[in-house]
Amino acid sequence: MRLRFRDFTTLAVITGALVSRTQAQCPDYTTYSQVPHDPRSTGPLALPYMRPAPACRTFNSTAKVISDMKSLLKDPDLARLFENTFPNTLDTTVKYYSESENLAFIITGDITAQWLRDTANQFAHYHSLLSVDPKLATLVKAVINNEARYVAQYPYCGSFQPPPESGLAPSVNDWAVGVTVNPPVNNQTVFECKYEIDSLCGFLKLSRSYYNATKDASFMNSNWRAAIDQIFRVINEQSQGTFDENFNFVSYYNWTGGGGSLSPMVNNDGNGEPKAYTGLVGTHHRPSDDLSIFAFLTPANAMLSVELTNLAQILDHAGQLRNVSQQAKEWSSKIESAIWKTTVVDNIFAYETNGLGSRYVMDDANVPSLISLPYLGFLEKTHPAYVATRKLLLSRNNPYYAAGKTFNGIGGPHVDPWNPWPMSHISAIFGTDNDQEILQSLYTIANNTDGLGLIHESQSIYNSSSYTRSWFAWANSYFAEMILDLADRKPGLILKQNKSYKPGK
Ligand SMILES: *[C@@H]1O[C@H](CO)[C@@H](O)[C@H](O)[C@H]1NC(C)=O
Ligand SMILES: *[C@@H]1O[C@H](CO)[C@@H](O)[C@H](O)[C@H]1NC(C)=O
Ligand SMILES: *[C@@H]1O[C@H](CO)[C@@H](O)[C@H](O)[C@H]1NC(C)=O
Ligand SMILES: *[C@@H]1O[C@H](CO)[C@@H](O)[C@H](O)[C@H]1NC(C)=O
Ligand SMILES: *[C@@H]1O[C@H](CO)[C@@H](O)[C@H](O)[C@H]1NC(C)=O
Ligand SMILES: *[C@@H]1O[C@H](CO)[C@@H](O)[C@H](O)[C@H]1NC(C)=O
Ligand SMILES: *[C@@H]1O[C@H](CO)[C@@H](O)[C@H](O)[C@H]1NC(C)=O
Ligand SMILES: *[C@@H]1O[C@H](CO)[C@@H](O)[C@H](O)[C@H]1NC(C)=O
Repeated sequence: MRLRFRDFTTLAVITGALVSRTQAQCPDYTTYSQVPHDPRSTGPLALPYMRPAPACRTFNSTAKVISDMKSLLKDPDLARLFENTFPNTLDTTVKYYSESENLAFIITGDITAQWLRDTANQFAHYHSLLSVDPKLATLVKAVINNEARYVAQYPYCGSFQPPPESGLAPSVNDWAVGVTVNPPVNNQTVFECKYEIDSLCGFLKLSRSYYNATKDASFMNSNWRAAIDQIFRVINEQSQGTFDENFNFVSYYNWTGGGGSLSPMVNNDGNGEPKAYTGLVGTHHRPSDDLSIFAFLTPANAMLSVELTNLAQILDHAGQLRNVSQQAKEWSSKIESAIWKTTVVDNIFAYETNGLGSRYVMDDANVPSLISLPYLGFLEKTHPAYVATRKLLLSRNNPYYAAGKTFNGIGGPHVDPWNPWPMSHISAIFGTDNDQEILQSLYTIANNTDGLGLIHESQSIYNSSSYTRSWFAWANSYFAEMILDLADRKPGLILKQNKSYKPGK
């Protein structure tokens, strides 16, 4: 996701009826995050302290991960980055929460809307805390229930308005005005209805992480079961070929309109490029919210395969919905074998395919991406196909790789080819055990925050003070998740002592 820096002001239109009196006096974090605040870290980067004042934080966790990590990390600049990024989701994005209603509305950052994909990732680094911080677990359960209602009603959409119970006004999405979606949606509930299969994977990931940490199956309520049914409906519909055997045109979802929307018009009456059945599930837009070139997005299918296996596991463990578990297992293995059979040539994964022989070899920084395949749990980082594909993706052979004097990485057409995303380096770190590569990526990120100590969406390779999105909660969470992974997997590299640290233990 999704916005260009210059667009911030047009979207900052949101009013929150339930914002408390104290919070009403809090500075807007979009503005706050564009200016460095003291005190500075004591390392060479002298990074600012970017947490909002305690009274302005939107949720307080009791877990003591931040103080633990501050005393364990060798480099005070990395410690400051961790201190700023780890709590960013709880500090700034819990726009509405009611424990009694079992509803929570989590914004992406600088846009007052909840993306299914972003939310799952915004909370990914808190998973291990859910067993030690029951209040945090209850918040996550409320997030899942709110999302279950969205997915049950609008499984093709990825971004949503506040629940009516919140009293928060829906925000007008300039880019959705003039867009027609079939099946139609109500803009009081839906912020944007681009169909991206990984959004549904995000919902599944949040659900299984909650269950894995708490073993509490109470979130599997009627909303959740209805959402799961809708996910299988989408899988069934979007795996079909564009033409049936008699050349009837098959369309369950289409997105038309142009003027003002961020993505270009979708050709073929809003259906995109034709595809043939392979066992993969098609998508319409990418995790960046940009239009797909070909419908079968390999990394999103990889994530879907992994999350369907996880879904089957939690259902079996909880003794629920055997029919769904069975279908989940069948689809998971069908998708996995289709990935190996139809997307890999000479050990190189294509980013997108159409089932008719066409492939697009590239990567886009937004997760799920090809470079994040190990992070997604699809394969081992030592798998020869990953090693070969990774090498290609971090070279000129990937059209969206770019390198300048101080910054480099993988970007995407969402911003432009000369603005790689720090997120691509985070994914790259998850995908290697090589200490030099890890440190190189880690300090490429740390050196390129424009002195602001937060993780941005993209960064120009030509100008170190030109970046997009000062407040991008997912990128902050992903960075903190990666630091925690290193503290466990490679402690000697970043901690004072070569001893694994696991939060919540
Ligand atoms: C978080 O704690 C601070 C006090 O440290 C308090 O002022 C603030 O209201 C709390 N935030 C929430 C959402 O409870
Ligand atoms: C919903 O759509 C109507 C009609 O296009 C528009 O006037 C209104 O501003 C939209 N509301 C929101 C919250 O997007
Ligand atoms: C658009 O999708 C709807 C189903 O939501 C379908 O009935 C209709 O035929 C599709 N239109 C086109 C032009 O593909
Ligand atoms: C479940 O939790 C354990 C312990 O934190 C973790 O190692 C494992 O990866 C988790 N599995 C899933 C599917 O979330
Ligand atoms: C599973 O079975 C339940 C109850 O019989 C049914 O309501 C649901 O639609 C089924 N789900 C799937 C995905 O087949
Ligand atoms: C980061 O900046 C430091 C100077 O502060 C420099 O020594 C180091 O080489 C840079 N690292 C990377 C990976 O750019
Ligand atoms: C670098 O980017 C900043 C922020 O957009 C801008 O103010 C500055 O003029 C740019 N510098 C050059 C040399 O283009
Ligand atoms: C940390 O210990 C592991 C094995 O216990 C070793 O392989 C690694 O080289 C050590 N790292 C450092 C930086 O000392």
